[in-house]
Amino acid sequence: MRTLWKTAPAPRTEVGVDPAAAEEFIAQFHAENPQAGPAAPRIAAVRRHIDLTGTYWHTPEELAFGARVAWRNNARCIGRLYWRSLQVRDLRTVGDAAGVAGHCVEHLRAAHNGGKIRPVISIFPPQAPSRPAPRIWNEQLIRYAGYDLPGGQILGDPRNRDLTREVIDRGWRPPAVRGAFDVLPLVVETADEGPRMFLLPDDAVHEVPLEHPELPWFAELGLKWHAVPVISNNRLDIGGVSYPAAPFNGWYMGTEIGARNLADTDRYDLVPTVAERMGLDTSSDATLWRDRVLVELNRAVLHSFRRHDTTITDHHTESRRFLTHVEREEQAGRRCPADWSWIVPPMSGSQTPVFHRYYDGDELKPNFFAGSTECPW
Ligand code: ARG
Repeated sequence: MRTLWKTAPAPRTEVGVDPAAAEEFIAQFHAENPQAGPAAPRIAAVRRHIDLTGTYWHTPEELAFGARVAWRNNARCIGRLYWRSLQVRDLRTVGDAAGVAGHCVEHLRAAHNGGKIRPVISIFPPQAPSRPAPRIWNEQLIRYAGYDLPGGQILGDPRNRDLTREVIDRGWRPPAVRGAFDVLPLVVETADEGPRMFLLPDDAVHEVPLEHPELPWFAELGLKWHAVPVISNNRLDIGGVSYPAAPFNGWYMGTEIGARNLADTDRYDLVPTVAERMGLDTSSDATLWRDRVLVELNRAVLHSFRRHDTTITDHHTESRRFLTHVEREEQAGRRCPADWSWIVPPMSGSQTPVFHRYYDGDELKPNFFAGSTECPW
């Protein structure tokens, strides 16, 4: 990987871990893992560490359990049935920007796994009172540039317009011919080095070109999407310890791409384009041309991922699996927080069983918290 740019260090902050949060987590770890023995001696040791240093160090078992439970507690995720299978990469001693970027590339490879996508999390150093943790600026490891065009239009993904401007300002050189799917460099910020940019090697970025099972012209639109969504700007909180850089992935549900990324009017906004190619009557909303396009876009996404032997799931299957998960959690005597507005798929909601009920709305920890850069540490 090539380094592109470097700047001054980030400011340091002094905040200690809340001992009550630590104790609650350690107690939970021992309650759910009886083979780990009694909680009391470990709680006493953790309290001593917090008194002395302001923080404590999770055992590898606590770390893996904490990461899996953070997934289990994440109210927005419909894919939680497999929370136990999360593969945890303990990278807490990797503190330099190049090391973080290199392991992010390894993460992409391990997660893609030849198309049989594995849920993986890479956990970089925690925030400590004496040492700010590394952070990743990109919201996902793979994001497409959104370029401002004269006239206010945007080429690419408008969602990443600010990051695109920022990295260009900092010296990233876009491809000679700019496209709608140019992968942005990774920006890793550490206290010692400031923000630094790294290009992702092509062979770590797997993409699926989109075609439709019946509409031959669909492939000519030149659409594609990346195979693995690795969220990289969430803060992982385990027992009061913050891990601001802890990128994690599952696999895609088709609607994320077909009904949102490619279809939202503030994203790729492709519904009118596809409607025209389909020859639909767009003169009135009441012809439901938007709905008809959404179905074909989503068929194209699911069909193309399958043809490329890349794991993907549809919203009907995933909704059923989620209710199985909710049932299992109930049987285990646990609460399962879920946010209806995130769980119900963005198309055909009422055709999926998750639509027809309500969920526990409380927030549980460990958990992931959005936008690590906004957190008040
Ligand atoms: N919705 C986001 C995207 O389209 C990805 C969020 C995580 N999704 C997942 N299936 N794990 O890129």
